[in-house]
Amino acid sequence: MPVSRQYWVNAFYWASDEHSLSPFMLMKFYIYTFGCQMSEHDSEYMGAVLLEKGYSSTEEESAADIILVNTCCVREKVEHKIFTKLGRLAKLKRKNRELIIGVTGCYAQLAKEEIKRRMPQVDFVLGTQGIRRLPEVIDRLRSLRQGWDAMPKTDKQLEGFPCGFRRRSPVQAMVTIMEGCNNFCAYCIIPFARGRERSRAAEEILREIKEAAAEGYKEVLLLGQNVNSYCDPSNNSISFADLLIKIHQIKGIERIRFVTSHPKDFSYRLVEVIRDYPKICNHIHLPVQSGSTRILKLMNRKYSRAEYMEKIAWLKREVPEIGISTDIIVGFPEETEDDFQQTMKLMEEVEFDGIYSFKYSPRPLTRAYQYPDTVPKEIKGRRLMELQGLQKRIQLTKNQSLVGRVVEILVDSVSKKDPYALCGRTSSNRIVNFKGGPELMGKFLRVKIVRAGPNSLFGERV
Ligand code: 5AD
Ligand code: SF4
Repeated sequence: MPVSRQYWVNAFYWASDEHSLSPFMLMKFYIYTFGCQMSEHDSEYMGAVLLEKGYSSTEEESAADIILVNTCCVREKVEHKIFTKLGRLAKLKRKNRELIIGVTGCYAQLAKEEIKRRMPQVDFVLGTQGIRRLPEVIDRLRSLRQGWDAMPKTDKQLEGFPCGFRRRSPVQAMVTIMEGCNNFCAYCIIPFARGRERSRAAEEILREIKEAAAEGYKEVLLLGQNVNSYCDPSNNSISFADLLIKIHQIKGIERIRFVTSHPKDFSYRLVEVIRDYPKICNHIHLPVQSGSTRILKLMNRKYSRAEYMEKIAWLKREVPEIGISTDIIVGFPEETEDDFQQTMKLMEEVEFDGIYSFKYSPRPLTRAYQYPDTVPKEIKGRRLMELQGLQKRIQLTKNQSLVGRVVEILVDSVSKKDPYALCGRTSSNRIVNFKGGPELMGKFLRVKIVRAGPNSLFGERV
């Protein structure tokens, strides 16, 4: 799921009038984000916290007084990108000594000392649960000219959203329902960076979604490292499936999506809920990681290949239109050619609609860090290419079978390739590009698919 990506929160924020007398009004911030949707959502939140205090956002890095780098730590490659970015910012700081640079998020949580050692130009480091304290940290820095490492234990989710909360997308509202992870998959650093599982109270979640609906949002994306283990802390009988049904009743919300589901906790009841409640999108992200039961065991995934395939069979039987995406790691320690071929065979059997695939990257603190990294780099690279080649062929065939069909999409963005084109998504999460103006943003449209590539579809309005 996570792709290294930068985006500018600034484009979506504006300062509210109520802070017009604030002494911070002239201070502008700029946020870089690395990582998954959870990380993007944290950036939205940080932007909101700063706006609430009267800071304003800028779209130009060079105009910023405060630059935040919100980080990810899931693979080593991202770490290199973070330091490259910080190196560039350090140069900027040499020209503008007043510039404040802060590092936040998962990598900040785990590598405070490393960041301080390698990048003395960084003014502060803030852990994953300290976002709400961002203005306090910046105030302190400005008044004392003194850096501060803040790793507070308070959970931002329990504190409610700041009043200036603005979202990244005008169509889809991301809403965290739980955070952290108890699974400790052998390769994964997330439980160390995000801590143990904590669910938000259902009442809080429903209130936030009702507010989003009142603001005109049509789609919600529920976020959590393992949404299937959601359990309302104030009423243990509310499970994830129950929560979905409650959200389904909210007027104005037309589509409900969620990430990420762990196959071991993915229940038949959830399949029934997806089948029976039409606003719940026909899409599931169900990371398999490997098609070999032996490797799954070494990964501590707690399901076998056969169990995974059984859940896929439930989904395909009960929800024939379902779009299924997954995450796959190649080159995990001890992965043989035979294990890899089992992954390839599983991909052919499932015919995923999308995959995020990665070369195994040893991460400190994890169990697998102690295993010898036995698969040579070149073999990891070759396996990744083979796997991606296969997936491209599968996607192309599946997409081409849609040519001539009329599908319903929710328009949610401007096309990256063509400023005169828009993108919408089908319920099954397929992206369709079509010609149209900005007035169509947030509308449901019917489009006929006229052309298909491996990664996208092209349609015409009908
Ligand atoms: N190496 C490679 N990929 C990893 N992921 C998590 N940790 C690692 C790692 N150490 C991938 C998994 C997970 C996704 C979020 O990132 O596929 O599902
Ligand atoms: Fe990482 Fe596994 Fe938890 Fe996902 S379920 S966040 S892969 S430990």
